Amino acid sequence: MWKKREVRILKGNIISSRSRTELEICENSYLVCEDGKAEGIYRTLPFRLGGYPIRDFGDCLIIPGLVDLHTHAPQYSFRGTAMDLELLDWLEVHTFPEEIKYGDMEYAGKAYEIFAERMQKSAVTRACIFATIHRPATMMLMDLMEKSGLVTMVGKVNMDRNAPEGLCEGTEDSLAETEAWLKEAAGRRYVNTTPILTPRFVPSCTDRLMEGLGELQKKYSLPVQSHLSENPEETAWVKELCPWSEFYGDAYDHFGLFGRECPTIMAHCVYSGEEEIRRMKENGVFIAHCPESNMNVSSGIAPVKQYLDEGLQVGLGSDVAAGSTENLFAAMAHAVRASKIRWRIQDDRRKPLTMEEVFYMATRGGGAFFGKVGSFEPGYEFDAVVLDDSRLSGPREMNARDRLERVIYLGDEREVRAKYVRGKELFF
Ligand code: GUN
Ligand code: FE
Repeated sequence: MWKKREVRILKGNIISSRSRTELEICENSYLVCEDGKAEGIYRTLPFRLGGYPIRDFGDCLIIPGLVDLHTHAPQYSFRGTAMDLELLDWLEVHTFPEEIKYGDMEYAGKAYEIFAERMQKSAVTRACIFATIHRPATMMLMDLMEKSGLVTMVGKVNMDRNAPEGLCEGTEDSLAETEAWLKEAAGRRYVNTTPILTPRFVPSCTDRLMEGLGELQKKYSLPVQSHLSENPEETAWVKELCPWSEFYGDAYDHFGLFGRECPTIMAHCVYSGEEEIRRMKENGVFIAHCPESNMNVSSGIAPVKQYLDEGLQVGLGSDVAAGSTENLFAAMAHAVRASKIRWRIQDDRRKPLTMEEVFYMATRGGGAFFGKVGSFEPGYEFDAVVLDDSRLSGPREMNARDRLERVIYLGDEREVRAKYVRGKELFF
């Protein structure tokens, strides 16, 4: 039977990433969405598209939805506090005690509702999210994310060593709970929410747990997210814990949890050596660059320009609560700033990141983890954010590119006037 096309037309100043180094800017143009996919951008609307209603956003900017490749929902409750320690102490003193609380569904409910609401209001349309080890609270988070309208991958975290009581699972329990969680999630028949395997990081997971997770990955064809080479002490610790591994990433790869078998995101990669970088490239591992987190817990500055130059897959992560905000514009600005400091004091062989590059990472770069996402090229899934930047404007004439740069440096959810995910408008 002939199916009626669902067409949506937005009008405004349309900006997207043409490539890593180039923006595509179409001022005062029409952005057409057909059946949830981008159809094209037009200066004048073609005759065949006449008759469909047009949402005219005047002088607003319209960009692809932003992608947060790495964040921790249970840590949202203490963001902007506890910024006094380096990674491993920060985890032990501040983070693990907070995550234990998610065994209590009342606390989890209150906290996750706030997280879901803030994510919904932000310019983010897609995210990869860590929950905690707790299955009931993780299910609740998935329900809330589904309700938010965002497309997300959510992981029940696995931890069976080096964790306090209340956050440390038995190895077999961890695997059984993970499988039970996968079955429960499948039963909910979510449209926009999918599970992602989430071994916290090597120090939290025994070899036997990793092996079992590798088996679950194969059985259920799951994507994977974790942390990698974030901090010098952590990286040295992994060498002690897995003396058999060639390098940190090899301790995931050995169990089939490092890109080769499954789409994989590794957060940070600040201290990845040559071999690890080569393996990530061979395996198609996605790197989630989390610049604010890397400053807040004194990790360092990842060589992101090198990763881009060498053709690795790179997106941006907020990494709340080591990063203080879900606002991905801030993550873009931090990425530029961090790269400038790296260039100045650590390695001047590669230039700092440009605004075009960080915008690319926040849209197409991370979007690729979700498929054809992060662009308005025909056939891409239609995620769009309409930005009203009048709060930031003044008498100075500005072109669309400079207005976008200003939003990156100064903007937040207050600039978000409308948001579309897979062609559907979100109301909030
Ligand atoms: N490594 C293991 N767990 C975490 C976490 O919660 N945050 C960060 N930044 N790094 C980690
Ligand atoms: Fe993290």
